[in-house]
Amino acid sequence: MKTLADLRAVKEQAKKEMAAREKTAKYRVCVGMGTCGIAAGARDVMSALLDEISKRGVEDAVVTQTGCQGYCDQEPLVQVTQPDKTVISYGKVTPQSARDIVAQHIIEGNVLSDLVFKQD
Ligand code: FES
Repeated sequence: MKTLADLRAVKEQAKKEMAAREKTAKYRVCVGMGTCGIAAGARDVMSALLDEISKRGVEDAVVTQTGCQGYCDQEPLVQVTQPDKTVISYGKVTPQSARDIVAQHIIEGNVLSDLVFKQD
């Protein structure tokens, strides 16, 4: 696990990059960072998402965070708002499945149906 200082540095760098693409992003990726999300590993999920997006040079996605969503049993929770504004909610996301969300959903456009617990 990374230290708090490492995570803060990643967050600051990501904030700068995300601000630049906020208006043009096709995909919005939102991580539940409420208390139970963090307890379930949301920090590592956030870190994996940001790292994978950076490594793969994805420029049409923005990552944000939110608080309590009321789905404690599904944390860590990642919601992907698609270009058509539908929202896919992934539950029990691990750092590896966060990387898969970037590679398969954000880049290829294929929803990882095994991880979906809700679609709006
Ligand atoms: S306390 Fe768990 S989602 Fe709100």
